[in-house]
Amino acid sequence: MSNKIFLIKRNQLQPGQVRKIESPGCPLAVYNVDGIYYATSDTCTHATASLSEGEVVDGDMIACPLHDGQFHIPTGQAMAFPCTVDLRTYKVIEEGDDVYADLDQESEAAASAI
Ligand code: FES
Repeated sequence: MSNKIFLIKRNQLQPGQVRKIESPGCPLAVYNVDGIYYATSDTCTHATASLSEGEVVDGDMIACPLHDGQFHIPTGQAMAFPCTVDLRTYKVIEEGDDVYADLDQESEAAASAI
């Protein structure tokens, strides 16, 4: 069972970039981290800023544009104050040039971190 939605074409997102994607329910942020694609909720768990307006830092962290909290992109873990609640992550599926997210499953990194 999957609830797969199209995110982006591979060549539309370069390494180190993040982009907001509208989806049913909540907006997503899709990331290219050294050629690997990840998806999380776009909404910061601290005070609802849009993370896709932030910056990818230290390789695999997203820095929130509002108060500079940080999350680990692959697992969604809150890593820097004032963020204390983890981000929802989504399993990413790559098919040819297309990148999808499964809204019913968390990222493999988050699932194996439990
Ligand atoms: Fe993201 Fe405050 S809204 S750190």
